Amino acid sequence: MTDINALKTEITTEIEAANDLKSLDDVRVSVLGKKGRITALMKTLGGMDPEERKTTGQALNQLKDDIADTIRKAESSLKKKEMAARLKDEVADITLSPRPQEMGRIHPISQTMEELVTIFAAMGFEVAEGPDIENDWYNFTALNFPPGHPAREMQDTFFLPETEDEEGEYAKKLLRTHTSSVQIRHMENNQPPHKIVCFGRTYRSDFDMTHTPMFHQMECLYVDKGVTMAHLKGCLTDFVRAFFEMDDLPVQFRPSFFPFVEPGAEVDIGYYKQGDGIKLGKAKDPADQKWMEILGSGMVHPNVLKNCGVDPEEYQGFAFGAGIERLTMLKYGIPDLRTFFESDVRWLRHYGFDPLERPNAATK
Ligand code: DAH
Repeated sequence: MTDINALKTEITTEIEAANDLKSLDDVRVSVLGKKGRITALMKTLGGMDPEERKTTGQALNQLKDDIADTIRKAESSLKKKEMAARLKDEVADITLSPRPQEMGRIHPISQTMEELVTIFAAMGFEVAEGPDIENDWYNFTALNFPPGHPAREMQDTFFLPETEDEEGEYAKKLLRTHTSSVQIRHMENNQPPHKIVCFGRTYRSDFDMTHTPMFHQMECLYVDKGVTMAHLKGCLTDFVRAFFEMDDLPVQFRPSFFPFVEPGAEVDIGYYKQGDGIKLGKAKDPADQKWMEILGSGMVHPNVLKNCGVDPEEYQGFAFGAGIERLTMLKYGIPDLRTFFESDVRWLRHYGFDPLERPNAATK
């Protein structure tokens, strides 16, 4: 019996000394496992006389139960201790101030293009695209610029070095000087009616306060049966008033020449001087009313329709093209065109737009 008591003290001390779950389990195995100390003692019961077996058996069973209980308690307290240690180590310090995360801004050019898409989508136009690198056919010839015609020199073209396998004038590669090339590509690949807008980069060899070698244009084409100049005027007037958010913005159509339209018209919007600057809109005194040109337009020339396989006797259309930078500068009061492409972050922070407030979100 004293042996059993001594063993109990010994094991209990071992259990108390185990300071993690792994060493506690080692103690458990050494006591209660197959080759454990209590298990070994149990095996000796068989060789005892019945009386001794009874008392020793009871005592051993009691010891076994007590030890198992002590181990369970130790295990549960060790688990609690380990959890407390983990919680202490892994704690997130919520008093630490967050690192500032700067949100980007939407470039004014992108903003304007999104606003334009929103306006034209509401009028039923689809967005079309074309390549920046074009050939003579799409940029000039199909648009009714005759070969050698001085109108080609109106736009200072960047030509790409000629490649050997290309034959003829039409194959000569260039950077498109306007988005009008997309009209041709769209009509060649689709059946009328055509109702598209296109946005993209355009290139001309020019650089000063109001010109950069790369700039953006928007192109619009509407071809259907019975389209007239009245449609052109209505659509354009609605568009500029929606874009500048001014219901009474004066709009004026002035005859002009572009090879791909007949008749052609430039569109002006009204403004007046105010202090050092200008203000879009109707002048109180008609004598103060001034006009500025914002885009070129016209009825699609029958030759252009024919070049794209469209019968001009059956279909008519209008088209227009506008500079995105110019529209943006006027709407948002940005004075210098060149700043658009200088990638100055301070400029973008000032003139850029909140990415979470997109113009077309309201129409969805
Ligand atoms: N492509 C012309 C330019 O870049 C603008 C233009 C004028 C486009 C009249 C048109 C148009 O579609 O009908 O100057």
